[in-house]
Amino acid sequence: MPTLNDIRATFLDFFERNDHTIVDSSPLVPRNDPTLMFTNSGMVQFKNCFTGIEHPGYTRAATSQKCVRAGGKHNDLDNVGYTARHHTFFEMLGNFSFGDYFKEQAIPYAWDLLTRDFGLDASKLLVTVYHTDDEAAAIWKKYAGLPDERIIRIATDDNFWSMGATGPCGPCTEIFYDHGPGIWGGPPGSAEEDGDRFIEIWNLVFMQYERFADGTQRDLDMQSIDTGMGLERIGALLQGKHDNYDTDLMRHLIEASAHATSADPDGPGKVHHRVIADHLRSTSFLIADGVMPSNEGRGYVLRRIMRRAMRHAHMLGTKDPVMHRLVPALVTQMGQAFPELGRAQPLIEETLKIEETRFKQTLDRGLRLLDEELGRVPEGGALPGQAAFKLYDTYGFPLDLTQDALRERGLTVDTDGFEAAMAEQKAKARAAWAGSGETADQAVWFDIADETGATDFLGYDTETAEGEIAAIVEENARAKSVEKGATCQIVLNQTPFYAEAGGQVGDTGTLVTNTGHARITDTKKVAGVFIHFAEVTEGGITRGQAARLRVDHDRRSTIRANHSATHLLHEALRRALGPHVAQRGSLNAPDRLRFDFSHAKPLSAEEMSRVEGEVNAFIRQNAPVETRIMAPDDARALGAQALFGEKYGDEVRVVSMGKMDGSDKGTDGRTYSIELCGGTHVRRTGDIGVFTVLGDTASSAGVRRIEALTGAAAFEYLSDRTARLGVVASELRTRSEDVPARVKSLLDERRDLANEVAQLRRDLAMAGSAGEGDAAAPREIDGVRFLSQVLSGVQGRDLPPLIDKMKARIGSGAILLIADTGGKVAVAAGVTDDLTTRLSAVDLVRAAVAELGGKGGGGRPDMAQGGGNDIGGADAAIAAAEAVLTSEKTS
Ligand code: ALA
Repeated sequence: MPTLNDIRATFLDFFERNDHTIVDSSPLVPRNDPTLMFTNSGMVQFKNCFTGIEHPGYTRAATSQKCVRAGGKHNDLDNVGYTARHHTFFEMLGNFSFGDYFKEQAIPYAWDLLTRDFGLDASKLLVTVYHTDDEAAAIWKKYAGLPDERIIRIATDDNFWSMGATGPCGPCTEIFYDHGPGIWGGPPGSAEEDGDRFIEIWNLVFMQYERFADGTQRDLDMQSIDTGMGLERIGALLQGKHDNYDTDLMRHLIEASAHATSADPDGPGKVHHRVIADHLRSTSFLIADGVMPSNEGRGYVLRRIMRRAMRHAHMLGTKDPVMHRLVPALVTQMGQAFPELGRAQPLIEETLKIEETRFKQTLDRGLRLLDEELGRVPEGGALPGQAAFKLYDTYGFPLDLTQDALRERGLTVDTDGFEAAMAEQKAKARAAWAGSGETADQAVWFDIADETGATDFLGYDTETAEGEIAAIVEENARAKSVEKGATCQIVLNQTPFYAEAGGQVGDTGTLVTNTGHARITDTKKVAGVFIHFAEVTEGGITRGQAARLRVDHDRRSTIRANHSATHLLHEALRRALGPHVAQRGSLNAPDRLRFDFSHAKPLSAEEMSRVEGEVNAFIRQNAPVETRIMAPDDARALGAQALFGEKYGDEVRVVSMGKMDGSDKGTDGRTYSIELCGGTHVRRTGDIGVFTVLGDTASSAGVRRIEALTGAAAFEYLSDRTARLGVVASELRTRSEDVPARVKSLLDERRDLANEVAQLRRDLAMAGSAGEGDAAAPREIDGVRFLSQVLSGVQGRDLPPLIDKMKARIGSGAILLIADTGGKVAVAAGVTDDLTTRLSAVDLVRAAVAELGGKGGGGRPDMAQGGGNDIGGADAAIAAAEAVLTSEKTS
């Protein structure tokens, strides 16, 4: 009996033999289709190949595409577990032709594969065609030899396939298998078609039109093929089962569930095991593709599926979380075909465990409340909306979980009442916000948030995506469209643009629709709505359009590197300076990073070089950067460093990087940096390149600020410095490494020279030529020889020795020296010993000082000193000293 893995391989091999390129399944989160919540068929990744916008480099392809139908239009969630063929996750096998073969080849391929390779009994097969498609009917008749009664013409949309209101579409032909009269049901198109006798196994779509939003349709330039066959269905058929859950793969998962819960797989808990098996697949694959449980958008759908499974596990009487224990069984079954599953296994297990542990805390109480409420509901009645809302709001029961619980008892929920209670709560939250003093112009964003919900952020995984324009705002008012030259703000249902938060600046880039182009100059968010600040550069842009969004890659890359480097810097600082180091603010811009932290004094050169060295060592380690979502308390218990000033909700994103022991696992004390952070980061630390600190300054009291560079900017900075050092070395005529020694010796030399110059100046002054002309020669004043001189280039301390020398020169007399020391004036006077009984140097200095803008002065009769600050009074000072000579000598 072929396993599902064998059947997938047979399908792909068949088309590979027929010149098809085997293409990997695209992720479950569609990058190129804003209208889809999840990838729900094989053609999603090829949408633009059919319309001719994109040329993949091949014209034939085959895939086994991961699909989730659990939100939006195709929502199978409610039925899963109770029916034979509903899944939230399934694989769609498909072959595709882009303008290569058409009906004449697609039908024979399908027929050959089914009847030869898969060995199905041709007499059990029948087909439908679109009622006008004579061509397809003729091919079936001719190639497969089907009689007219087994080629059923269908006039409804059942045989005209379109992916949605817009996009490529065309008539289709569906292949059915007849399980025989033993099972109730009628052929397609009959009143009994919903029975289980005739099961659709493969849909072949003849893509030949494109539909537009205004309802018009055009012929596509080329005719193409898109087919889809559910692996689980064809698997059940080939394994002789009637129920998809009886196939080998699903049975494995059901048995794993039975084992983990110690509950009979086929006993009264049968439905629970089926729910668990199905939901295990969708949740694990969604997490592997980057979706994390949250209260918005895709994350909320994931949470709903997880919690639904967890309630069913609870019904089986489990005390401890079980879902995460089933992941290894899933990886064994599907990890080879989908390697991303194995890569994400730790993340999947941890996410499931945390969600289940937390949900269990409120599940019991919620179920008790539900029981109490149900006591009041009459048979066949509905649970009041208020009660369902309380379960949602207080106990984390998504509405469909409550509905699922009631279904078992044949009851429903008053959904209108639920919606009303939800609306009332939103209105209250909004009123509370309106009173908090925010500016009125922000009110528009809350209106938009109410209408469109929070924007789905795709930017952790991609820098390009399509989004649907949900609102345009121009000058604080809503606009339907904007034209070239307009400056406006644009909101989309999903975006790869990061909105400024946690110190990381908003992204910039481009937005392109079928009618216009805009430059995105910044991105911010209010109430979960991402606001793209746009300048329309070409054409016009209209609400409701699909837009291709592209983040400026180079800019985002440097921001990412700077942000990750900030985390490493934070940890390096803590380790170098102590646990008091806490983040006080940060900026992660494209050109540099800035990190403010609590620390009282500047870093020493040694501390700084240790920090810089450690950051670079972890960059070179090139360890993967891991992100996980968890409850704030769990994150703190793990040792995560909280971001400054951020408010935490139910759950936080935890970013870890760097391994302490070089191993690739775990955060149990072996991870270098663990922080709560919503920002975007490098994949591996090596992507940061290199890290260099520009400087450390005081930001405010007790807070230091480090500015630093990474990557190319750091390299340029360092290489520029090296170049400058080279210039210095060549000026000094030495090698770069000898520059410090050379500079030191130059400074020593300079100091010696300065001393020498001072000495020479003193000598010159002594020689009499440093003064002004004749003043250097002693004059006779009332019989006393008086020598006065105004000097420059000497200091006050140089004057006494000069006076002694001059005394020796003149033999007997008085000396007054006035030195301009640059801004200040030094004065000294001397009287030879033979005259000190009549004449005091102190009096001479005091008289001179008074004219030089100073006061006082003192010393001994033979030598006194003083100071002033106005050299302009030098002549008057000399005259005043002469006057003292005259008066003292005669007294
Ligand atoms: N795209 C087609 C489908 O989903 C094949 O059925």
